[in-house]
Amino acid sequence: MPYVRRPMSSNSSRNVVVLGANRGLGLAFASRFLEAGDHVVATARDLDAAAELGDLAARHEGRATLARADLADGASLEALAGIVPFERIDLLLVNAGVFGGEDGRIEAVQPAEVAETFLVNAVGPLRVAQVFWSRLDEGSKMVCLTSLMGSIADNGGGGRYGYRMSKAALNMLVRNLGHETEPKGVVVMAIHPGWVRTDMGGPKAPLSIEESVDAMVATIDEVGMERNGAFVDRNGEPLPW
Ligand SMILES: NC(=O)c1ccc[n+]([C@@H]2O[C@H](COP(=O)([O-])OP(=O)(O)OC[C@H]3O[C@@H](n4cnc5c(N)ncnc54)[C@H](OP(=O)(O)O)[C@@H]3O)[C@@H](O)[C@H]2O)c1
Repeated sequence: MPYVRRPMSSNSSRNVVVLGANRGLGLAFASRFLEAGDHVVATARDLDAAAELGDLAARHEGRATLARADLADGASLEALAGIVPFERIDLLLVNAGVFGGEDGRIEAVQPAEVAETFLVNAVGPLRVAQVFWSRLDEGSKMVCLTSLMGSIADNGGGGRYGYRMSKAALNMLVRNLGHETEPKGVVVMAIHPGWVRTDMGGPKAPLSIEESVDAMVATIDEVGMERNGAFVDRNGEPLPW
């Protein structure tokens, strides 16, 4: 059966949820969607420390809702589900993530730190899918920020155990979930933003936040069911698992 592309029109207002929107790529995503006229629920772990996000929401009063959410805390995600005012979510963007420890060598790996990284990067998105499952309907998209470092096929260098393992698990979540979203007509996708100059990416990264988010927003707008369950780069090209 041929796949139908379901572009999200930039002319009509969408219901968007961005998790981890207080800095880095998440803040830029929230800003981009609000500027496009969308209704956005943007989350942070600590809203009192999210001044830039607060300013952004104030500039778009009426279309921006701020909420607290911690991906490591199931109860906070249940609470978020109660705050999100949308009956249907057009775009559920799981941006939040942690880099984990400096576990370059096996002797240095802290299992408790790896478990915490898993809880945020892999179990968190799973919980997000669960609490919002009933609000994803035909044409909805769930997009998770992953990393090429989670690619098993591409791992030529090793190191970063917790981060690599957790993003590989996130990729499997997306692939698995794709089987369940397929009959609903919902696209679930894992997207790698490239190496970007954020707190996580550091100052040596080649891409600016704008360059990465511009490309990802265009990809998210354009993709349809042909990319359901896929692991793609910021331009929508499939990456090796
Ligand atoms: N930058 C890159 O080069 C790069 C490359 C590949 C993939 N990525 C992925 O892209 C996504 C965004 O990265 P970034 O570069 O923008 O990172 P960042 O600047 O470090 O921002 C990370 C965001 O995630 C939030 N977060 C961390 N732990 C959380 C938790 N337990 N619950 C809820 N939110 C939490 C942070 O909130 P707090 O302020 O509260 O910590 C912050 O908003 C991540 O998933 C990352 O793995 C980034």
